Amino acid sequence: MAAGSDQANWSSRWTFIMAAVGSAVGLGNIWLFPFKAGQSGGAAFVLVYLAFSFLIGVPLLMTELSLGRRGRMSPIGSMKKIAAEEKRSPLWGLIGWSGVLGAFIILSFYSVVGGWTLAYMIKAIMGFQGLDAAGATSMFSDFIGHATEPLVSHAIFMGITMYIVARGVQGGLEKAVSLMMPALFGLLVLLVVYAALTGAFADALAFLFTPDFGKLTPAVVIDALGQSFFSLSLAMGSIMTYGAYLNRDVKIGPSALTIAAADSTVALLAGLAIFPIVFQFGISASGGPGLVFMSLPIAFGQMPGGQIIGTLFFALLSMAAITSSISLLEPAVSYLEHSWKINRKKSALTIAAAAFALGILSALGQEGNMLGNVRIFGQSIMDAKGYLTNNIMMPLGGMFTALFVGWFVSRKAMADELALTDAQFRFWYTIVRFVAPIAVFLVFLSVTVL
Ligand code: PHE
Repeated sequence: MAAGSDQANWSSRWTFIMAAVGSAVGLGNIWLFPFKAGQSGGAAFVLVYLAFSFLIGVPLLMTELSLGRRGRMSPIGSMKKIAAEEKRSPLWGLIGWSGVLGAFIILSFYSVVGGWTLAYMIKAIMGFQGLDAAGATSMFSDFIGHATEPLVSHAIFMGITMYIVARGVQGGLEKAVSLMMPALFGLLVLLVVYAALTGAFADALAFLFTPDFGKLTPAVVIDALGQSFFSLSLAMGSIMTYGAYLNRDVKIGPSALTIAAADSTVALLAGLAIFPIVFQFGISASGGPGLVFMSLPIAFGQMPGGQIIGTLFFALLSMAAITSSISLLEPAVSYLEHSWKINRKKSALTIAAAAFALGILSALGQEGNMLGNVRIFGQSIMDAKGYLTNNIMMPLGGMFTALFVGWFVSRKAMADELALTDAQFRFWYTIVRFVAPIAVFLVFLSVTVL
């Protein structure tokens, strides 16, 4: 279990993997990935995203899990503690702060989209029969353009997240996750098969896997980097916090690989389920945040048993979102609990209420809604928050984490924590010392200079 007391531990390696996969797999894979891939023109983005996930993402997952397990506190506490043990500046604690703050900002808009999935579950129960592209599009814009439904569902989603975190992640959730994640996976495979049989599957395959590297602008590359970090829950304190509850006998390397493999598989499956429908019905692939909500309901409206499958899909998607959102709330709660000695219930209530309030702006900032015309650096409120976290805080947080362990933590301590073979360790060490910081720095530079 992952409750926040100092002694809390996962009950087994399996539950840890499930919780970590639960954190990684969520709206990032099924909502954000197709929407970003669509906006960036497809395959080139997808390949860069995959390369970042495995080359930099996996080593960083290992890094964060190790730091968490060594520190055994909130991300802020762990970073400060390790910096002190290594006789380094307490300023390294800022990495922890940036994570906790970033997770809080993400939670604020994540819960809004999580609310959309809950609302769509209800819509699916009513059935999507007879929906065409125009109908699906107007259903979505009508939904996000009004205040009540999105706000109520945002409140419900945040309430569920708060409830689970407040109670500590008990056996119930561990069990639920280990059932839900495989079920979601199975359902996605089913949807891919359906899309392959009835949709424009060849177009989707070409779109996702035949790269046109001419499309690789600096903006696309940083989007792919941000997407891979977001999808793996990196640099936001979540993985570090989960590492803090990890037993010493769990091998971090294979765990990280498993998490990343599950994560990108789900993203690709989501792409393969969604784009055949998108192309079949002439929906715009670059349609933005509504892509999933505008494409899949059309298919659910047509397939036999679509009412049940559609309901099940949005139910499981909501669950996948909740297993991610609890990992977004947990870092700040564990900080209040450990460092301020505020009890878990109060901490969860306070942080969730604040994130809910901040999220109202994202909910009302959708097209056609009250704040729909507000622009921050040319972006909607939700996009601006996403840009700040995914494209700025995550890459920078990841870069500084890599620099910290690569250059300021003793090599031996990391080697002990990771327990890799020599060759594996050298590979990991080269990535965190050189490849990750330089790559992230270059991506940043290219965005500002070009
Ligand atoms: N990885 C989650 C997703 O893809 C989102 C997330 C980001 C969770 C950062 C925790 C930390 O939906």
